[in-house]
Amino acid sequence: MVSRVIPVEPFDLVIFGGTGDLARRKILPGLFRRYCAGQMPPEAQVIGAARSDMDDSGYRDFVRDAITEFAGPLSDECQQVDGFLDRVGYVTIDAQGEGGWAELKDRVRAELVHAYYFSVAPSLFGDIAERLHLHGLAGDDSRIVVEKPFGKDLDSARALNATLAKHFDEHQIYRIDHYLGKETVQNLMAVRFGNVLFEPLWNAQYVDHIQITVAETVGVGGRGGYYDTSGAMRDMVQNHLMQLLCLIAMEPPAKFEPDAVRDEKLKVIRALEPVEPHHIVRGQYDKTADAPGYRQDVENPRSFTESFLALKLHISNWRWAGTPFYLRTGKKLKARTSEIVVVFKDAPHSIFGADAGRHRNVLAIRLQPNEGMTLDVTIKEPGPGGMRLVDVPLDMTFADALGPEAEQATEAYERLIMDVIRGNQTLFMRGDEVEAAWAWTDPIIAGWTARSDVPKPYDQGGSGPEDSLMLMHRDGRRWRELKA
Ligand code: BG6
Repeated sequence: MVSRVIPVEPFDLVIFGGTGDLARRKILPGLFRRYCAGQMPPEAQVIGAARSDMDDSGYRDFVRDAITEFAGPLSDECQQVDGFLDRVGYVTIDAQGEGGWAELKDRVRAELVHAYYFSVAPSLFGDIAERLHLHGLAGDDSRIVVEKPFGKDLDSARALNATLAKHFDEHQIYRIDHYLGKETVQNLMAVRFGNVLFEPLWNAQYVDHIQITVAETVGVGGRGGYYDTSGAMRDMVQNHLMQLLCLIAMEPPAKFEPDAVRDEKLKVIRALEPVEPHHIVRGQYDKTADAPGYRQDVENPRSFTESFLALKLHISNWRWAGTPFYLRTGKKLKARTSEIVVVFKDAPHSIFGADAGRHRNVLAIRLQPNEGMTLDVTIKEPGPGGMRLVDVPLDMTFADALGPEAEQATEAYERLIMDVIRGNQTLFMRGDEVEAAWAWTDPIIAGWTARSDVPKPYDQGGSGPEDSLMLMHRDGRRWRELKA
């Protein structure tokens, strides 16, 4: 596979929250990998901006450590980080006061593209946007990048959008959902709209149901405080699973262009029906003899927040009327696996008689790990003894098909940051999209709060609460098994 790297134009990237966890784990190592790939032009500059008192050289040490710890396996040409560090600087800044802004203004070069990454608490977005404006740092060519959580409900998301809109136009605002930067997530669009095979069958007439699973083996780790006010609905479903749902269900956009794609995604969200209470299963991982449970992890013995959520949804439009979509996500499950499974309907008539059994085509798209697709196809079981049918997978693991480079694919953050510099918003959420997602989410959360719903305990290392299996079994269906 030939890799094509097109350098972006020279830029200044300022990371507010430059000493934070996201910068250390994702943003800085990601930028370094792009530097190694030859995508960063020599004039590019990365400036960390945060409260800590530090100088350029102190920050370079911080960045070097972040790269060593999180940049992953590096090619031989890339063992030398000094060339990258030469482009890195630091400004001590007070997001809510005047300290550091004049110095930042001196460092940022007016003639270049500027991107300001708000890797800070959303409560600071307004202060930073305001100061960028006041200090003349927010020109027409400036972009701001904001992270999730983008609000915690519709009202707060609207308020955030309004705050940012005071100083930046929508075309300057890049709302990150890192799932959109994943290689295979984009591949969903390539598979659907680059092949003639699938699209004619991609509708309620031929599809029995679709499953979307994002399962994790980790627990809430050190993020208990945040997670307990969020839960799987706000942390994963309203954003990551919603984006997957949009890409799998949307109509073909006329072009692969930002607003064409985002208009179609928005239509899917707006066509989502409210979810019936008996189509919602919430769970919390239980403690074991050796490991704390969810409530111990978040240090809240009376927590009713879900670490697992399964939902059955319907999309009211011509393409999907009557086809259920089953979504599930959870922590401390059996395997780390994200996949989308499209289960097609049975052949309308079996010429092989009842003994041949029931067979259906299943397209499974594995997003992570081990990206690839399998398509179960029904064939004759080899050997004598009549016509017995069996389903065999046509397996396309991308690393096997495309070679080792597919495994070293660009990570989500790297791709997304380069898209910001290029000014391409296709893989970023538009303000109305985020608001529509909250408008659908809010009544579901309000419903279970009003019912005083208590999440069902589930075993660590399993597949989630029993009720989640029942959600499918009641419909004569079952989840695809979680496999590592
Ligand atoms: C984050 C969530 O957005 O996505 C985390 O806040 C979750 O709770 C993570 O673990 C999963 O991302 P990935 O890329 O590891 O699938």
